[in-house]
This record gives sequence, structure tokens and C-alpha cells, in this order.
Amino acid sequence: MKHETVVVLDFGGQYNQLIARRIREAHVFSLILPYTAPLSRIRAVEPKGIILTGGPSSVCAPDAPRVDPELFALGVPVLGICYGAQLMCHLLGGDVGARQREYGLAELRIDHGSPLFEGIGAETSCWMSHTDQIARMPTGFAATASTGACPVAAMEDSGRRLYGVQFHPEVEHTPCGQHIIRNFLYDICGCAGDWTMRDFALESIEALKRRIGDERVLLALSGGVDSAVSAVMLSRAVGRRLTCLFVDTGLMRKDEGDEVERVFTGGFDLRFLRVNAQERFLARLKGVSDPERKRKIIGEEFIRVFEEEARKIGHVHFLAQGTIYPDVVESGSGHAAVIKSHHNVGGLPEHVDFDEIIEPLRDLFKDEVRAVGEELGLPASMVWRQPFPGPGLAIRILGEVTAEKLDILREADAICRAEIASAGLDREIWQYFAVLTNARSVGVMGDTRTYDHVLALRAVTSVDAMTADWARIPYDVLARISSRIINEAPHINRVVYDITSKPPGTIEWE
Ligand code: XMP
Repeated sequence: MKHETVVVLDFGGQYNQLIARRIREAHVFSLILPYTAPLSRIRAVEPKGIILTGGPSSVCAPDAPRVDPELFALGVPVLGICYGAQLMCHLLGGDVGARQREYGLAELRIDHGSPLFEGIGAETSCWMSHTDQIARMPTGFAATASTGACPVAAMEDSGRRLYGVQFHPEVEHTPCGQHIIRNFLYDICGCAGDWTMRDFALESIEALKRRIGDERVLLALSGGVDSAVSAVMLSRAVGRRLTCLFVDTGLMRKDEGDEVERVFTGGFDLRFLRVNAQERFLARLKGVSDPERKRKIIGEEFIRVFEEEARKIGHVHFLAQGTIYPDVVESGSGHAAVIKSHHNVGGLPEHVDFDEIIEPLRDLFKDEVRAVGEELGLPASMVWRQPFPGPGLAIRILGEVTAEKLDILREADAICRAEIASAGLDREIWQYFAVLTNARSVGVMGDTRTYDHVLALRAVTSVDAMTADWARIPYDVLARISSRIINEAPHINRVVYDITSKPPGTIEWE
């Protein structure tokens, strides 16, 4: 089925995927093409609109990225953002000068009854990030918004349906940004906005079918949402030519390994292989208490187990990874993203026999991945799983990791999670878990003295895990968690709550 499509011409700006995401949020399909895409390619898509992105170059430079000026004569509405607006100005006969750099939040005054700003008050704010500036608009254009430092924050030639904004409507610092994008898509381009993440999922599955053909795919399933959603998409595309390899390190939370197995053997068409490697991991962790050593050992062992099992499967053409867009951004290249599918704990297995990597979620943000997961029938427990580190409970047990400590922590952590969920706080708290400290303390239970483990509760709010604040959990919820843990979990006689933000703390204790 053909959808109404908006083409996003990519000039290398840092927010380009965010633009595409904003368009998807408005329920319109967007196709990102490099700025070098020939006009014939753009025309073939029959776009309802075209967006020119920002970019790091200066239009004044002789080698600056350009487009064929005929683009502006297609009769298709065009919105240029930042560099895109300056390029539009330059190619249509206006002047762009290196006048005044502007960076950060600016007051935006909307001067004119533009369809782009319909429904937005005369004064708002916007996010600026540009060095050059439009000095003289092309003939036919009028300025429609300004900031103190930028007289042409927005311009348009409404007759030709050409619009330019020098600010960034796609970032969240521009409060009316999504309103502007919707005005462009619905009122100016005439889009109906009937595209959904379900369409995305179904079309991606078709594209995976075409790409994979008759080849086989191997995916490392971790239990996390990204690899789980990748697995379901690939399963829909190639069925049992997909092998999902789940290495149970024994370092997962209570019943988690069994849940992964239950979900993936119950109803999805794929080969599911579970390797129970608890003993191997515990043996290698014996006597080790340094956090970095633990992480390294777990990473290495994971790769080793994965490689051994992959060797049994034999040659596969594709190794699939649950890389999502923020991983691509953080790594700055495809390389670090590769590490991701292996729990982020080690590196890429060197001895797995594959030819190509396939990443079905590479362009999506986390919440979009969740939406796809829900569309494809993954259970809520998996779709809404909180972030969980690859090294698992090993970095939530301070000091040496033993089977006994793992059992204690699993029980306490399960209580903590159950109570947070029943208080209805599970979606607003970013991560919440228990940590088995390496401390013991004296207590009294009944009439007897106890000398047992001190358990810490950690719960943080965050948007991206880069910074975090400790969650203000209501006292009565904390009281319930503490009392249940002392009563029900073995060998814990004291519960403390960690009230450290990040920075200076980290979310995990190790
Ligand atoms: P920190 O402790 O550095 O954690 O504040 C930030 C976020 O990353 C998660 N984390 C990991 N995730 N492999 C992962 O996949 C790891 O080795 C790892 N270590 C920390 C942590 O849970 C938090 O969400």
C-alpha cells in the first residue's frame, strides 16, 4: 500500500533522525534521502512535502552541499530547517551572510499570519543553533518570525509554498515545534496523517523478507526490549530461518530466563535456543570482587558461550542486532553499536561465521521500539521492561558473586519491583532495583540477635540514563518494600534507600 510520503533531504545535521521521528509522530511516513539524491528519485516518490534538514556546512563555502534548484519548482511544499532554509535562500537568489552566531534558547516573535504558525501565539521561544544567517530574502519571500538576533527567523513564499525556519522546530526546546511541523504536514502539504507504527512494522517486515531472501539469521536474545522486538520482526519475516540464541548467564532477575523462554517458544515462529550457562559464569566469577574485572569476565564469557553455540549452528549469512537509533548516536559510528547485541558487556564475537549485520530497529527511538513491540504482540512485561545491564545482578552484588547471594538478591529485588508496580509507579520511575551491599549489620528478630546482609534500594528518574535523580518514592511504599523484604527474603536484616543523584553517583553501584 502506498502512503503519503514526506521526503527528508539529509544535509548531515545532528537532529535529522529527530525530524523523521517528529513526522512519524504526526502519523506521516517519512523517507530520509541523502541530499545527493537525484530529482528523478525524489519525484518518483510523489512526495506530499519535502523537508531540507540542518547541516554543519556553510552555504557560502564553494563545496557546500547543494540541491538542484528545480526542486523548488516541483510544486511540492518545501520546509527548509536551519541550513535547509539558508540553502533555499541562497539557491533562489537571496543572500546568506556570516552575520551573527546564535546558539540556545531565543524568544521568537511571530510577525505575520503564516499558515506555518497557525494556532501559535505571537510570542513563544525556539532553539537556535546556527552560524550563518539569512541577510536578504529571495524575491517573493516575506519574513514571518524573528528573534532579537535574527530578523529572519522564518520566511516564506506562500504562493510557491516554500518555507524556511532558521530555528529547530524538531527539538523539544522549541515548545511549539511539533505544532509547526503538524501545520506544515497537514495544512500546507495536505497530509491526512493516517500512517501508524503498525504500518512501519509491516513494511519493515516486508523489507526484511526481501533483504534476507532464503538466507539464515542469528540473533542474540538478551531479554531486553530491543532484541525482543528485533526477534519478533525477523520471525515474521523469515520464520524458522531465524535462530534466537539466549545465553542465560544465571545473572538475570527472578524467573526472567524462564519468561524469555516462555514468550519465545509460545507462539512465535522461530528457532529458540537457550543455553544455561549459570555454572560457567559463576565458576569464572569465583573469588573476584573488583567491579571492572567482573564486567570483563562476564563479557568474555558471554562471547565464548555465544561463539561455541554459533559454531554448532554453522554458517549464517546475517547476524542480527537490536541496535536502536540512540545507540548509533552515542557510538558516533556503527562500531560501538555492534557491541550492543552482546549485552553491551563485551565485543563482537570474532569467530561467528556470518557475512552481514542486519539491524531492524536502527532508525527508531526507544518509545517507538516499544510501540512496534506492542503492535507485534509482545507481552507488556517485555515491552515495558526497565533497562537492565548486560552484566546483570553481578554488578548489583558488591564483592564476590555467589549462588547464595544471587538467590537472596533475586528474592529481595522481586519484592521491590512488585511493590513499585502495585503502587503504580513502574512507568514513571526509570529504574528501580535492589543492591546487595557487601555489608552486614546487627539486628534483632524475635528475641534473637541477627547478623545479616544490608540491602540497598535504588530507584531513579531519568530520561536517558546520562543523568538521574533519586526517585521520591512515598514513605508508605518504601515501608511496605522494607517490611516485606525483611520478612520474606532470606538473610536480610536491614534495608536502606540510596538518595544519591547521578552525577555524582552512577545508577548502578558497580
Ligand atoms: P550507570 O551505572 O553508568 O548506568 O549510571 C547507566 C545506564 O546503563 C546501564 N548499564 C549497562 N547497560 N551494559 C548495559 O547494557 C552494561 O554493562 C551496563 N552498565 C550499566 C544502567 O543500568 C543504566 O541504565
